Amino acid sequence: MSYWNWAFVLFVLISVNCSTTLSESDPITQQKLDQVSNLPGQSFTVDFDHYAGYVTVNEESGRALFYWMTEATHDPSSKPLILWLNGGPGCSSIAFGMAEEVGPFHVNEDGKSVYLNPYSWNTVANLLFLDSPAGVGYSYSNTSSDITSNGDNRTAADSLQFLLNWLERFPQYKGRDFYIAGESYAGHYVPQLSQAIVRYNKANAGSPINLKGYMVGNALTDDYNDHVGLFEFMWATGMISDQTYKKSNELCDRESFIHSSPECGQIIDIASREMGNIDPYSIFTPICTANGVTTRLLRKWRKVKHIRQTYDPCTEQHSTIYFNLPEVQNALHVHHGNSSRTWETCSDDVGMNWEDSPVSVLDVHQELISSGLRIWIYSGDTDAVIPVTSTRYSVDALNLTAISPWSAWYDDGQVGGWTQMYEGLTFVTVRGAGHEVPLHKPKLALNLVKSFLAGTSMAQFIEPGPSLKLLLHN
Ligand SMILES: *[C@@H]1O[C@H](CO)[C@@H](O)[C@H](O)[C@H]1NC(C)=O
Ligand SMILES: *[C@@H]1O[C@H](CO)[C@@H](O)[C@H](O)[C@H]1NC(C)=O
Ligand SMILES: *[C@@H]1O[C@H](CO)[C@@H](O)[C@H](O)[C@H]1NC(C)=O
Ligand SMILES: *[C@@H]1O[C@H](CO)[C@@H](O)[C@H](O)[C@H]1NC(C)=O
Repeated sequence: MSYWNWAFVLFVLISVNCSTTLSESDPITQQKLDQVSNLPGQSFTVDFDHYAGYVTVNEESGRALFYWMTEATHDPSSKPLILWLNGGPGCSSIAFGMAEEVGPFHVNEDGKSVYLNPYSWNTVANLLFLDSPAGVGYSYSNTSSDITSNGDNRTAADSLQFLLNWLERFPQYKGRDFYIAGESYAGHYVPQLSQAIVRYNKANAGSPINLKGYMVGNALTDDYNDHVGLFEFMWATGMISDQTYKKSNELCDRESFIHSSPECGQIIDIASREMGNIDPYSIFTPICTANGVTTRLLRKWRKVKHIRQTYDPCTEQHSTIYFNLPEVQNALHVHHGNSSRTWETCSDDVGMNWEDSPVSVLDVHQELISSGLRIWIYSGDTDAVIPVTSTRYSVDALNLTAISPWSAWYDDGQVGGWTQMYEGLTFVTVRGAGHEVPLHKPKLALNLVKSFLAGTSMAQFIEPGPSLKLLLHN
């Protein structure tokens, strides 16, 4: 497994952009055109409306971003709107966010049908997924060079444009409480888009985007601290040798995650060999044994009768089948402009040709903390790609003042993780979750977003017995 595979092709949240394709017609007509009636392989009814389609973000180049929005299951008009972004760079928010993490429709192991995720975040909010930037998932550009020249800057700019144009199509969401959430490389996208919105709102009175806050998980934040924490985690969990640990720090700590030197790449390759064939995104769960990339489309999927109770490491392969089905693409109003492409969970064309990627977004967090947004950073603590140690070092580097004691939080009598509140930022860990927290710990992830939206500490989830003793110590 190369460094690229496990450390760079992270799934991160994606951002959104759009333009005025349908601006001449009435928005309600446009919404109706985007409404999805039924998905292929959907054997249940849902009590919420959902919409999918394109928003043009740049007419000159012909860049159009694909979105899929599922309304809240109850009383959507009173619920906030959350934009969810996966990372990569190059990974689809439909593939990960919708189909295996926070979305209501998860793909079954047959690759042909879907089941309803009972822990979907649309039980608490309206949920918008965006394939971003152009070239990712179903999003496209009619200028092929756009696909190999993406970077953080254009991603944020296109995503802002998407939101502005999308709100023209969905005017009922103008001024609605709005949050952005995402993971992995979306540790760049989410704060960068938030910054673009805050700056846009300062310059444009009456802006329709009512940004209240954002949340990032297992998020690439600061290349130096993230590297130091990464090697420490790999060493502390016993996956790499002392020598490789020392060498990694010497050769990589000052490197960019996205554009690293050959020397750093070599030691990362050695570390990968020492780790062996485990899933670095979730080090204590089995790997997908059907993982052969070349054969994954050929494999016959075993029929499983029940909704899965246990973790399935092969979810990505199921999505690859499902989202390439022509009937699925028709149901979702997918088209590709004048380019024809196979749908991929993550695009190497996008990820391998990524341009601008600042070494740190700590400065962006700092700017946004002072703007008063609600900011939460969470971490699944069994991820070896952006591990909890990385995030702790990055948060520490912000030099914030702690305003609550470090404390455990609970779900059903079990520790769900640990949390600490700082002035302007809340940090939460999720125990036993890998890189994709809502995939591994869906119930805990739903607690997390409920608490985030309510603006209350995770420590509200406290057990009467043990917690009393803890409180006395505090
Ligand atoms: C891309 O090109 C196709 C074919 O010419 C056209 O139908 C489509 O509207 C274009 N997309 C954008 C976003 O301009
Ligand atoms: C789409 O069509 C335009 C205009 O004909 C052309 O310049 C562009 O290269 C085409 N894009 C792709 C991806 O084929
Ligand atoms: C991002 O793009 C904007 C608009 O093109 C430009 O003004 C700005 O300097 C760019 N920033 C970076 C960091 O490249
Ligand atoms: C945090 O404090 C350290 C030590 O005083 C300082 O070097 C660093 O620049 C500060 N970081 C930020 C983001 O302000």
